[in-house]
Amino acid sequence: MIKSRLCDLIGIKYPIIQAGMGPFSNNNLCVAAANAGVLGLLSTGGLFSKEDQPWVYNAFVDSGEADRDDDMATAIEKVFKRTHRLVKDKGGIFGPNIMVSAELREYSKIMIETAIKVRKENPEMEKSLKVIYTSAGDPMGWGDMIKGAGFTWIHIVPSVRGAMRAKKAGADVIVASGHEGGFHTHWEPLHSLVLFPAVVEAVSDEKTIVVGGGGVGDGKSLAAALALGCDGVLMGTRFLATQESDFHPMWKQAVVDTQDRGTLIARGFVGPARWLRNSRSEEHAVNTLKKSPGTFLGTPDDYSTMDMSLIDFEVESIKATYEGNKEKALMAGGEIAQRIKDMPKVSDLVQNIMKEAEEVIANLPKNYIS
Ligand SMILES: Cc1cc2nc3c(=O)[nH]c(=O)nc-3n(C[C@H](O)[C@H](O)[C@H](O)COP(=O)(O)O)c2cc1C
Repeated sequence: MIKSRLCDLIGIKYPIIQAGMGPFSNNNLCVAAANAGVLGLLSTGGLFSKEDQPWVYNAFVDSGEADRDDDMATAIEKVFKRTHRLVKDKGGIFGPNIMVSAELREYSKIMIETAIKVRKENPEMEKSLKVIYTSAGDPMGWGDMIKGAGFTWIHIVPSVRGAMRAKKAGADVIVASGHEGGFHTHWEPLHSLVLFPAVVEAVSDEKTIVVGGGGVGDGKSLAAALALGCDGVLMGTRFLATQESDFHPMWKQAVVDTQDRGTLIARGFVGPARWLRNSRSEEHAVNTLKKSPGTFLGTPDDYSTMDMSLIDFEVESIKATYEGNKEKALMAGGEIAQRIKDMPKVSDLVQNIMKEAEEVIANLPKNYIS
């Protein structure tokens, strides 16, 4: 059986993290993942979408058994309590993925404070709500708050420099996120095969654990990440295409149907984003080339300099996805989509991944060492 320091630190059975995939709700997927023995992450980004994308916000609060009129803290508290209720019997472990980019910091703080408060008021939740995972921003300044309250802190980074900053900030687990990954990605791309060992070499030690994400979706890629020095993997796109996943059936099927070279990069809300290739995303990529060339040149732009029609197009296309409108839909997904050929139950998926990884690792000496 494969075990790693990640399992020991968090108390999960398998060294796998089911990625947060905001702003799209994955409240049910998180429950299924936690109950399958991996770390389940709640996407919380939908909470920022109340005004401009109510279809995204409503999906989050409705599936999380919160009320559409709740304030942010109340809504997320209800989602935490629901998740705990649904994972506690199986010993499932979960946490929120909270984006900490500069413009969201005030809201990020509310979510982190709520996680701390809800656990203090309900001490039995210490067994399930164990982790706070931060993304999309500077890790500096969050450590005391998160770790001081007894949570394990995971932060995701796109580079060695980012990893060193996360280590300095005190993160327990640093996720190295390769450019293969789905949806928001880096301005300056670095892919998993180079990034994983580079981050491991730079920051892994007895106090800091490295996890690899981006392009991981089966036992082979889990075994490869372990061989590169990681103590576990993060998977988003693979979990998107599962029975229990909250994503629209059209979107899940689009992942399964993705073929060779089936994704592309075009502008997303907060920078470059990876989309499943279709005529809509190709149109968006052409527009991005004209209106936000920095997306392809590695030179960040922002809402003050870029053409906002790109964001309008994205919002309209995501709405179309929620409506099941195939012609107008933009659907995010990672390169691993081209290797995903089924839509299993989460627990079967996890079992198959672990079995395959064990076989790969067991066969390596037999096949390659004489
Ligand atoms: C549909 C989708 C939405 C995502 N949204 C977010 C997000 O809001 N915040 C974030 O930190 N990462 C987000 N991600 C990235 C994942 O957390 C994870 O890093 C990525 O999926 C890993 O790569 P993979 O897709 O190859 O497994 C998203 C990924 C997908 C597929």
